Parts: sequence; structure tokens; C-alpha cells
Amino acid sequence: MCNVFIEDLIKEMTLEEKVGQCVQLSADYYEVSGEITGPKSTSNVSLEDIKNTGSVLGIFGAEEYKNIQSMHIKNHRLNIPLLFMADIVHGCNTIFPVPIGLGSSFNPKLAYESSRVAALEGRQQGIHVTFAPMLDLAVDPRWGRNMEATSEDPYLNTLFAKAYVEGFQDSDDNQKESMASCIKHFAAYGMVKAGREYNTVDLSKRMLMSDHIPSYKAGIDAGASMVMTAFNTYDSIPCTGNKYLMNTLLRDKLGFDKTVISDWGAVKELINHQVASDDYMATVKSFNATCDIDMMANSYNLELLNAVNNGDVSLQQLDDAVRRILTLKYDLGLFDDPYKFINPDCDLLSKKSLEIAKQASDESIVLLKNNNNILPIKTDNYAITGPMADSSDLMGPWSWHGKQEDVVSNAKYFREENPKINYVSTNGVLNTMHFKNNDIVIYIGGENSYESGESNSKTNINLEASQVNNIKTLFEAGKKVVYVNYSGRPLVLTDIEPYTEAIIQAWFPGTMASASLYDIITGKVNPSGKLSMSFPRNIGQCPLSYREYQTGRPKELGLDDYVSKYIDSENTPLYQFGQGLSYSDCNVKEVELSSNVITDDVDVKITGVIENNSDLISKEVLQVYLNDKCSDLIRPLKELIYVDKFEVENTKEFNITITKDMLKYIDSEFNKTIEDGEVELFIGIDSTILISKTIEVR
Ligand code: BGC
Repeated sequence: MCNVFIEDLIKEMTLEEKVGQCVQLSADYYEVSGEITGPKSTSNVSLEDIKNTGSVLGIFGAEEYKNIQSMHIKNHRLNIPLLFMADIVHGCNTIFPVPIGLGSSFNPKLAYESSRVAALEGRQQGIHVTFAPMLDLAVDPRWGRNMEATSEDPYLNTLFAKAYVEGFQDSDDNQKESMASCIKHFAAYGMVKAGREYNTVDLSKRMLMSDHIPSYKAGIDAGASMVMTAFNTYDSIPCTGNKYLMNTLLRDKLGFDKTVISDWGAVKELINHQVASDDYMATVKSFNATCDIDMMANSYNLELLNAVNNGDVSLQQLDDAVRRILTLKYDLGLFDDPYKFINPDCDLLSKKSLEIAKQASDESIVLLKNNNNILPIKTDNYAITGPMADSSDLMGPWSWHGKQEDVVSNAKYFREENPKINYVSTNGVLNTMHFKNNDIVIYIGGENSYESGESNSKTNINLEASQVNNIKTLFEAGKKVVYVNYSGRPLVLTDIEPYTEAIIQAWFPGTMASASLYDIITGKVNPSGKLSMSFPRNIGQCPLSYREYQTGRPKELGLDDYVSKYIDSENTPLYQFGQGLSYSDCNVKEVELSSNVITDDVDVKITGVIENNSDLISKEVLQVYLNDKCSDLIRPLKELIYVDKFEVENTKEFNITITKDMLKYIDSEFNKTIEDGEVELFIGIDSTILISKTIEVR
């Protein structure tokens, strides 16, 4: 049915109308009333282009949607509806933790549930496609966009990729409000040199395949409707015009046959990269790399028609791109009813959505240090202070439609819950006299949300000097400092670590931020997050990942010199991926394997017990890592191959099946392989305390 309808439509379309489908305009070409604001002299977009255009980005709201869509359908000769796209990254109106925070929950179910809520809220307000999830691997804290990635680990990223895509698209039941998910940025955007935004990427093919492609593949396998190209280069060619990356790898190898869109203006940026001399060349290179839609209409509207007329782009290719775009519109039901699900009275921030947001922010917060079990706090007699204490800037970047007024600052929330708490503003110089009656001070600091996110790379990720000084001053005045860090990236906390009794990494938790922090500080919620990205001791260690490779001269050789080390720092991070405390006293014991040999036909079962020696129910993250003792290619000293999260009341038995396939590595042709020999498995609930077992692969 779809094919006949679409093929008939394509037959009817003029070349100009086909090109129009490949053009995306931003909101500022339209009035809220639905009127076209008119061509802009600077953009080379004509009135005809606007009428033929296939999609818009950044328009939001049920009324705006109805006005603009109805006007567009009326103006279009064949009444083809517009696709509306936007960045609904970690919630629409109800805001969930930034993805790097949600990654720290180690609970992909929460990504599913939160993106389900985002789809529900977003679709009713006119969004068909969300530019999410971002599946780039985050390994360099200098890069501002780490906040939009889920972790530094390829395997954990695949779990979150699947969950996010399925949540947005609700593949189980497309009758429900769902949004098409556009995964991004293909490929390896997280590897920009020196963590500088939009910089070039230089990466071996083998590392691309092994560490980066799996998360995009997981998104594609979960049914993602679109893929966005990355701004960066791969193998010296910008991704948007990179035929190997887009045609050979994405289309042929990964089998992605749906719509590809450029990142914002990335087609034209081929000119800045100096691989195209003008819009014509940029168009031909990008379109021939099967980039179907030019986001922000800089080049295709100008030159795609010429390229087809000159034979530099074939009519067949144009038809294929248009077919992919129309199929997406068809699958979203836009030809049946372009107003389906649009609801000006939709229920936003519903009780259920806020409950999911609360659980997500509870689980994303990581307790990194807790000397003498100072937390949960056992007294009313404490103070809260710090630059983020009275801030409602707790949603993080990419939360366009979340409202600050829906977020309660910690100062307000804590004092409403318990008026005895002493809130001290840090405006001006910190005066320790204000804390004279308090032994414990909760210092809430970190970064503002505008210090991370797109185009917010930094060379200095140390906690700002005034905050370090304040914490030191409190310590010197005899206070026990509990430091709470809000940030969209790992910060260097080395300078404050000695002056704190406890450290909490809270990321940007979203709408329910303060309720979660209060419940964690007071023990109503037992912390269960584990770091999704390692925290360096020193900026000079970046990029940094727990997935270190052994060198020819490991530090452990113990020689004083000529080993792989720094002369002014440890090699290890201050806090590592997979690390995080709870208030319970849990440990893993009785770990046994069903066999010491693993083959294609014989799996290995790991059994064991998690014992909880406290009376607090705990949510524990069971983690299994691998080290391949000898393989043809170098492999990390530790790589995550299995994760599960569950409650432990007293004791909990676990039973994990390890297959030979889970132990394999990915080579430069994207094949999975493992040679015969020994591998070591590491099992535990914190990546710094693991039990090791050796098995033989045959
Ligand atoms: C970002 C994308 C985003 C797009 C549309 C670009 O600048 O890199 O991730 O989806 O803008 O807002």
C-alpha cells in the first residue's frame, strides 16, 4: 500500500518538488500564524523553495503546528505535509537527567521510559522527529557535548542506544504518540581533536569499527528512522560528503536504508573544510554520499536541481532520497491525518512523568566518597551553600522546552522540607561566621548549564578557583564538607578532594533535581549510580577512559624510569567509570564458573551471591569485564561485556550466561573474532573492586 501510494506521488512530482523534499528550513521562515515570513535576502531561499520544502526544524507548539502545517499543505501543489523536527534530547517539558547522567544510572530501562514520556509530550505539540539520541562515544571531558552522550564505554552505549530509540519510537505500538528517532552524529564526533568542538577527527578504521560503530548499529537495529551526519571528518573527508562512511559503511554494511540528514549547515561546510569550492560541489559530494536532507537549506535548494540537470546527480538518486523521506512521512501517518495526536490541551509534567523523572534523577546521581559514613546525614543541624545551591539551572543543556519555573532550587526545596536547615548565600565573600552553628556544610557547586553542551569545549576543567577556596576555607574552619557537583562533563576535583568528607556527582538531573538530592542526602534514597565517564586527576590526562591498553612498558614493571607514566601524576583517573558507592554494605561472594572452557557450543555460567550487610535495600549494578590475555590485536586491559541492575535486600544470587560471542573483538572490517587462549573475567558491583576468574577459549 505504502509503495504504490508513494510511487504514484513520485511520478506526479516535478523536479523542483522533489528537490524541495530534500531541503530543511528553520522556524524563522514561518510566522506563528502559519504565514511564510518570506525569502531572506541573505539565504538564497526563494518563496517557491519555502512552499516546496519538505521539513522544518525548531517549530514547537500545537497551535503553531496546526497553523503552519495547514498553510503548507494548502500551498503545496500536491498537498504534501511538512515534517517537523526538533532536538528533544532528554525530555520535552518534563526534563530528565542529561544523557551522561542517565548513563550513570546503568539502567537503560530509564532511557526507554524517559524517551517514551518525551515522545508523548513532544508529539502532541507537533514534533515528528527528534534529533536524538546522540550515540557518540564520550572520552574527552574537554568536549562540551559529553553531556549528550551516555558514556565512555561502547557496550554500555549500545544498551542505551537501543533503549532510547525504542522509547522515542515505541516500536511495540505505533498507535501511541511516538516520535521518529534520528540518531547522531555519524560518525565518531566524540573524537574531535583535543576535545575542541567541530574539530577534525583522526581515527584508525579498526578503532572506528570496534569502539564507535556498535552504538550507531544498535540504534539502527532498534529501528531508528533517521541518521544525522557528523560535522567532523573521518579519514580526512568530512562525514557529510564521505562516500566510504555513508555509502559503504552506513548503507551497505550496516544496512541503513532510511533517511539521512546533514547536521546544521554541514553540506555547505564542505566549502570551509576546503573539499568543495562552492555550493554546487558541496551538493554533489553530499548528495552522492546519500545525504538526503540538507539541514538549513544552504546548498541543496540552490544547486541540487542543477546537479540533476547536469547529470552529476542521477534522477534515480534523487528519487531514492525522496522515496525515503516520503516513506517516513507515510510511516508517521502524515498522509492519513497530519493532525493526528496534536493536542493543545495535552497533559504535560503529569504525575507519572514526574515519577519517572524522579527515579531517573535518583539513579543518575553518583556517590563518589563518603568518609566515616557522613551520609546519609544524621542531623538537622547543617548548612547548605555554594553557587548552585539556590540555582534552578539544574536541567542542563538541550532542554529547550523545560521551564526554569518548574525546577525548585535546592535551597528552597531543602528549607521547605526542613526549616532548620541553614541556607547561606555565597554572593560575595564566604564568611565562616555564617556557619558557626553547623558542623556539616553541603557545598553545592560545579558548572552552570551553559558551560557544557554544543560549542562549549574547555581547556580548563578544574573546579573554578573561588569554589576551591571556599571549600578549603570551610575545611580550615573545622567544617565537614559534603561537596555536590553539578556538571555536564567530568571536572577535575583533585584540588578539593582532600578538603571534603563526601563527594556527590549529580550531573544535571532535570526537573526533579532537588527532590533527588534531598532524598539522597537524607537517606530516603540509597544512591545507586556508577560513573559513566572517568574523572581525571589532571587535565593533562585527557582524553581518558578506563579502557586503557597495555603498553610495551607498563608502569607496573616497577622500573623507576622508561615506563609508561607521568612524572607529575598517576596514570589512573581520580574516579573511574563504573565506580560509585551506596549507603549499604554490599559485597560479592561465592563466585563460581560452570566451566573453565568456553566454545561455540559451551557457554560459561557465572554464579554468585551479593550479600547486603546493612538494613537498607540497595540497587546494585553487577558488572562483568574482560581481559583477553593474548590476541592478534591489542585489546583493553578491562572492557565491559555485561551489566545488570537489581535490588538487593539481604542476599541475592546471580546467574550470568557468558557466550563466546560476548568475548569477541571487532576488527577493521567489522567482523567479530576471538583466537583460542586464556581470557580473564572480572566480576563485581564497583569497577574498582572486582573478582577475577580465568577461562580458556577454544
Ligand atoms: C547539532 C545537532 C542538532 C542540530 C539541530 C546542530 O548544531 O550539532 O546535534 O541536532 O544542530 O539543532
